Amino acid sequence: MIEPFLILTTDRLTLRPLSVDDAPSVLALRSDAEINQYLDRKPSKTLDDALRFINAVTENIHHKQSLYWAITQTDDDTFVGTICVFNGTNNGATCEIGFELLRDFQGKGIMQEAANRVVAFVTDTLPVSTIEAFTHVNNQRSIQLLEKIGFSRTKEPDANVPDCCVYTLRTRT
Ligand SMILES: CC(C)(COP(=O)(O)OP(=O)(O)OC[C@H]1O[C@@H](n2cnc3c(N)ncnc32)[C@H](O)[C@@H]1OP(=O)(O)O)[C@@H](O)C(=O)NCCC(=O)NCCS
Repeated sequence: MIEPFLILTTDRLTLRPLSVDDAPSVLALRSDAEINQYLDRKPSKTLDDALRFINAVTENIHHKQSLYWAITQTDDDTFVGTICVFNGTNNGATCEIGFELLRDFQGKGIMQEAANRVVAFVTDTLPVSTIEAFTHVNNQRSIQLLEKIGFSRTKEPDANVPDCCVYTLRTRT
């Protein structure tokens, strides 16, 4: 049985559960037009939107539909972004990964470090054989990151979502 609200660490980072105190940071992430550029989601506009999002995330974790971490710098406890895994298709054989960083913290290798840790965690503890990531074909930063941490582009774009490509990483052979 996995502890769903667990903390993961890396050299520079602490990945911890989201809390309602993170609402201003979550609002900053989810209201940023540049961060949202390639994400198919309704932007948060107010602190209440951010709080509703945090509560929905917490509820999903309780229902074992996802795991979700705030990424913080261990040195100064600064919130820099989020990373999550959630149930994929194929009756639990896959899970999906998603991630985002505040703009001030991009270009420092932070997500590579966080994503490698989460991939190792999934590989060690979850009964899935494949991690998937869906990303916009023009989301170069995301594609570069996925390729750096070992994902490869697989399926052709879905006819219904031609702007989206699928990256996968096998955790078991
Ligand atoms: C996707 C996203 C998280 C990638 O962020 P990123 O900053 O490019 O990725 P990383 O944190 O791994 O940083 C990598 C960069 O830091 C540089 N870097 C600096 N210091 C580094 C270090 N100590 N270690 C490794 N890389 C370092 C790398 O060279 C690389 O830059 P480059 O690609 O220009 O060479 C970010 O663009 C984002 O939040 N986008 C909006 C949300 C989004 O689209 N999410 C994806 C949904 S599928």
